[in-house]
Amino acid sequence: MLGDTSFAIHPGKEKKDTADVYRDIGSVQEWLKRDQEYLFNCVNGKVSILFYTDEIIRVTMNTKHDPVLNNSKSVIIEPNLVNVSEDETEETLILKTSELVLQIEKTPFRLTVKDVKGTTIVSEDKRGIAFRENGEVIAFKQMHEHDHFYGFGEKSGHLDKRGEKLEMWNTDVYAPHNPETKALYESIPYFMTLRDGNAHGIFFDNTFKTHFDLQSSDAYYSFSAEGGQLDYYVLAGPHPKRVLEQYTYLTGRMPLPPKWSLGYHQSRYSYETEAEVRELAKNFIERNIPLDVIHLDIHYMNGYRVFTFDKERFPNPELLIADLKEMGIRVVPIVDPGVKKDAEYPIYQEGVLEDHFCKYIEGDIYYGEVWPGVSAFPDFTEEKVRKWWGEKHEFYTSMGIEGIWNDMNEPAVFNETKTMDLEVIHRNDGRLTTHREMHNVYGLLMGKATYEGMKENLQGKRPFLLTRAGYAGVQRYGAVWTGDNRSFWEHLQMSLPMVMNLGLSGVPFTGPDVGGFAHDTNAELLTRWTQVGAFTPFFRNHSAIGFRYQEPWQFGEKFETIMKKYIQMRYEWMPQLYSLFYQASIQGLPVMRPLLMEYPDDAKTYNLNDQFMIGDNVIMAPILNPSVTDRVVYLPKGEWMEYTSGESYEGEKVHLIHVELEDLPIFVRKGSALMQSKWISNQDKETKDLTMKVFASDEENYSFTFYDDDGETFAYETGEYIKIAFDIQSSKDKIEISVLSKEGNYQPAYKEIKIELMGPNKTVFVNGSNSSIIGL
Ligand code: GLC
Repeated sequence: MLGDTSFAIHPGKEKKDTADVYRDIGSVQEWLKRDQEYLFNCVNGKVSILFYTDEIIRVTMNTKHDPVLNNSKSVIIEPNLVNVSEDETEETLILKTSELVLQIEKTPFRLTVKDVKGTTIVSEDKRGIAFRENGEVIAFKQMHEHDHFYGFGEKSGHLDKRGEKLEMWNTDVYAPHNPETKALYESIPYFMTLRDGNAHGIFFDNTFKTHFDLQSSDAYYSFSAEGGQLDYYVLAGPHPKRVLEQYTYLTGRMPLPPKWSLGYHQSRYSYETEAEVRELAKNFIERNIPLDVIHLDIHYMNGYRVFTFDKERFPNPELLIADLKEMGIRVVPIVDPGVKKDAEYPIYQEGVLEDHFCKYIEGDIYYGEVWPGVSAFPDFTEEKVRKWWGEKHEFYTSMGIEGIWNDMNEPAVFNETKTMDLEVIHRNDGRLTTHREMHNVYGLLMGKATYEGMKENLQGKRPFLLTRAGYAGVQRYGAVWTGDNRSFWEHLQMSLPMVMNLGLSGVPFTGPDVGGFAHDTNAELLTRWTQVGAFTPFFRNHSAIGFRYQEPWQFGEKFETIMKKYIQMRYEWMPQLYSLFYQASIQGLPVMRPLLMEYPDDAKTYNLNDQFMIGDNVIMAPILNPSVTDRVVYLPKGEWMEYTSGESYEGEKVHLIHVELEDLPIFVRKGSALMQSKWISNQDKETKDLTMKVFASDEENYSFTFYDDDGETFAYETGEYIKIAFDIQSSKDKIEISVLSKEGNYQPAYKEIKIELMGPNKTVFVNGSNSSIIGL
């Protein structure tokens, strides 16, 4: 990477505030109601208002014609029938649902959204919605003194984005990932604002390059796009969890992933031969280090041709895959979108003959260089292309493969712009669009093709997809890893807010390359990173060609023992994590969360970057710096117990704690519980014993839901699951556990839940009787 010289700050090159170059939409000339839609004819264009629910409003501005309301790649639901009352005066129109009041000023067109108590959610004053002749569209909203901004998908920097400018343009960034890297691989033009304990969301559903400016002014913020319609949704909240439920109601939720994909993944660019992969697996088995997945990076292919194996390096992939499966290990191969231009390669032949590749409007195929050399790119915006691509995955599923890793799907191209020509035309099921408009959804649609094709081919088994690029709604298809980070402590630090903001953007299954991808890792960094990785939703160690190998044993026994302990812990926590993944799949709530999600009234949590929660009752406070064995921890309201030491900590206080290399401080809220199991071996990962660890409190009530199923099929859709709602009442001398409800027909290997009381001794009651076992 060549940096800029000082010429970049030459006098006269500074940028000016450009807010005034936009033309306002102007005053309302007339309005009408068309079915559920309110359509405003303004001086400079049209605005449509549509209520999706009592809590969700869509605003669409089009300066050329009536707003188009049916071309989203993200939103998967239709508007509900919402009861809206109208109240009109000369100056205003007020539209009211049971939850929201939308006030429209007519001269000029300005919007204010309030809740029914009168608290302002979103408002405009001097500036409203506007555009430029070059096609740009923009919305300005008032910024309040106490606004904090979260979400925005995959971004570097801190948790709270107030004071930042962000860009959405899927970009292959090998380097640098630093606080001023505005665009990375994923574009999720969505954010949540937290203001005095109340939250609301805005989803800007525009697939062009978009910008969010939370920096230029303290009085307003803006979001803008280089083209297309101004099309956004206001999500009323008011709790952060409610905002996320609203957003994922619109854009969909993650399907329950196969349990094996929640385990530990080992990867490297690349394990280059079958012998190397076998040796790797053997090491994990012999050392009894848990492993669920080995990733095969680009070297497994014949000349980087997707849907092939290199027969010299991997002479018998079927046998390899079957043997590994016996050991409890699955193989996930990489599949990139670029198809090598090679007249003798069947995928390329089919792609050309059946017209599946992206083209210029004149009819020539677009070619760009990627790993295989000159390549063509499937046009995933077309249904028939997605189907073709999906079916091709039979190549993998017929060998016993159940998971795919999609990379380079921004799409990345090795040229100056890093991607495809912007004037390439996507056929988009009949509505021709340029790459300029479709760029940000290329990865999403590749994910759709892959996930759906795999699902079809796997006949009842759950597929796993890992993707680098995506757009709002990517959670419907895959897990996301955060791309090419480096073995820097700073990147370990940055991964926490990045994963938390992805979680706040509807994508619950994410994680960075543990240990760092590029650059040489070291023993301490890898150990600390593995401790964190054991609790990030996606847990994969991956490293790049030319850098140090970083499997857990590479730095000697001392470090291996610690890493092994934490990787095993991941499996001990699996019943708890799986229940949280279930919650993510039905409610959209992230597994790994910032504290502000549970404590939105506590300002100390608003930009807390170096701690995170797992679910609603556990706080992790890892060490993120070299040579450090002490740190400060902030614990919010409640009483807390450190998981390993059993020590008590008071809430709403800052604590200084000592943390040796083998330690990861974990604080569990007293009165709550964790569901856990024992690690057995790689060959036998089935949960055979289940324990409910209850962290004793003198006065707490806690309720939670435990969920389990076979972990690999869709049988849960027809009742093959077990779901138990528990309530725990703690008091001075006793703990009363009640089963509030129990559902489902799944018969797990464990037949009971053992209760283990952590902390001072008390009498435990289950459904009224003195017992330490819950029968199933
Ligand atoms: C990209 C990916 C990385 C992968 C490499 C080779 O850099 O981000 O994870 O290992 O390509 O396929």
